[in-house]
Amino acid sequence: MHHTDICIAGAGIIGLSLALELHRRGLSVTVLDQGTPLAEASTAAAGMLAASDPDNPASLRPLADLSLSLYPAFLDRLHALSGTQVPFHTRATLQSHADASGETFSPEALSKILPQLKPRNHHFTLIDEHSLEPRNLAAALLAAVKSTSIDLHTSTQVLAAQSIGDSVELHTTRGTFHAAKFINCTGAWATHSSLAPGLAVAPKKGQMLAVAIPSTLSLPLVVRTHGMYIVPRTTGPNAGRAIIGATIEDVGFDKIVHLADIAHLRALAADLIPALADAPQLEVWAGLRPSTPDELPFLGPAPDARNQFIAAGHYRNGILLAPATAHVIAQILTGEPSAIDLSAYSPMRPLPATAIAH
Ligand code: GLY
Repeated sequence: MHHTDICIAGAGIIGLSLALELHRRGLSVTVLDQGTPLAEASTAAAGMLAASDPDNPASLRPLADLSLSLYPAFLDRLHALSGTQVPFHTRATLQSHADASGETFSPEALSKILPQLKPRNHHFTLIDEHSLEPRNLAAALLAAVKSTSIDLHTSTQVLAAQSIGDSVELHTTRGTFHAAKFINCTGAWATHSSLAPGLAVAPKKGQMLAVAIPSTLSLPLVVRTHGMYIVPRTTGPNAGRAIIGATIEDVGFDKIVHLADIAHLRALAADLIPALADAPQLEVWAGLRPSTPDELPFLGPAPDARNQFIAAGHYRNGILLAPATAHVIAQILTGEPSAIDLSAYSPMRPLPATAIAH
């Protein structure tokens, strides 16, 4: 029998960031993962801290801005605990917009920023936005967690959570755990089990590829359109590669990579930057984003389940939103007033009847 203040299901970026924050506040924390830590969306991600992506729902902004403000301290803490510094790879994004309204660049101005970009019919603005390598972040986060007394169990799936008196009894594939409070951070799997009945989190597959940036191409920033992004890695062992993503597919838990989809993504990238057409392919992969019907996460008390909470459904922005999610959920659990209004993210909010798909 295991007893802890807090039990978290899911050792992804959200679950482990929350575990660290709760541990910092003096609580005992157990994390249960059905597989291995950080093995799903957390390391499939491109790593853009894309708070200003025009494809984000407007109501994501307060949470995204809070997270950006917390990011430097989050990375400093990971560094202090793990000894690993997670660097930013880019500090600007060329973002395409559907029309020329607002501060878009002329082709001449664009050619000064990225001479090899062919804008075609896109209108670009320059966004102050950072990106990092999620694999670096995952390694530092896991090392940070392991440097603490956080009790991390792999290959341990939570099958059922039952509120009994002042605590929650968790039935898992590796025995029973008891916690004062339970938080479901299982991402795309959050409502696959019986842990959050009535909530809708569904996987949305994203296929991507990595190519070697040709020596003739200087690519110091992210280029993003509505359907595609190119994210260069500029430092560390992966320096010189560019990530090209990503499909958005509603195909359940399928992670099969289709070379026709990869070829399509590369064609979209090469249309804008022709030098990428023949760039050697280094890797292909697919991940599962945890999507919700309104593309906003569920953050707060689970409906009709005392001492149970949910922090899942971060869809395309889990890397960006991890520090703010850890912060606001820790505030809820410790009875502090929330740093921001969380009503847009309430698990009890009214939802559109059908999922909005891109
Ligand atoms: N975060 C980028 C994507 O979802 O494709």
